[in-house]
Amino acid sequence: MILIDGKKCSADVRQEIAEDVKALKAEGGKTPHLVAVLVGHDGGSESYVAGKMRACNEVGFKSTLVRYEDDVTEAELLAKVDELNRDEDVDGFIVQLPLPKHISEEKVTEAIDPRKDVDGFHPMNVGRMTIGAPAFVSATPQGIMELLRRYNIETSGKNVVVIGRSNIVGRPMSILLSRKGEPGNATVTVAHSRTKDLKEVCASADILIAALGSPEFVTADMVKEGAVVIDVGTTRVKSDLTKSGWKLKGDVKFDEVADKCSFITPVPGGVGPMTITSLMINTLKSAKKEIYK
Ligand code: GUN
Repeated sequence: MILIDGKKCSADVRQEIAEDVKALKAEGGKTPHLVAVLVGHDGGSESYVAGKMRACNEVGFKSTLVRYEDDVTEAELLAKVDELNRDEDVDGFIVQLPLPKHISEEKVTEAIDPRKDVDGFHPMNVGRMTIGAPAFVSATPQGIMELLRRYNIETSGKNVVVIGRSNIVGRPMSILLSRKGEPGNATVTVAHSRTKDLKEVCASADILIAALGSPEFVTADMVKEGAVVIDVGTTRVKSDLTKSGWKLKGDVKFDEVADKCSFITPVPGGVGPMTITSLMINTLKSAKKEIYK
């Protein structure tokens, strides 16, 4: 069994990005600039956004954090989106989700210029990704593609089962792996809460991607001998064993599944570290105008 080291991959990619940024600057190019818009004080969002800002610093990007209180109006937020769309110094920006209930996430997402949508959430980017055109791809699926690439995991002709059909993980993952390309060319099944015989479906997978957000859902009897298992789950559960009082749990019962696998991602330290790094990849692509010429 090979443990997929997302921390190391992430550090390697960040090093490569940092070198690219140095070269860009040496050629007289501009410093890539990412802006994050954060509404309110949700603990999870605060910590994600702080991680994104730290990553910018690490790779040599300029970063700006724009904060609003929970009572910001939708109109005020849309005006900021419009301003960032027009600001030529800004290569990419994200509006951290979730937003308060009185603000439409759909409206805000669709107001972002697709050329600056480094989250890859805008329907234009989702559509372009679907047809195989250049597009910003959302962070988690892109991070998983990078792990598969860097560990030379063959996907062509393989049976992939993705558990979960969310717009930002399960569905894009299923599209990317069924597309022509490397990684890709797989036969993909998307399983979800209405899937019949889920255990058998999962046990048929050469590559099983668990992205349903249910701690330790995938047990050994659901995994084929020699399968590749990618665990996207990151549920915070209470724990007496950590200083913070919390522990991250994946969607896979790692202790009983790991021995059956050819490759497996741990939680933490697998897919997680690659997600923020994917945002850095997209911001660099935006600064270099690699997606929208
Ligand atoms: N909330 C949880 N994950 C994400 C993400 O990748 N982007 C944004 N904008 N919000 C999130």
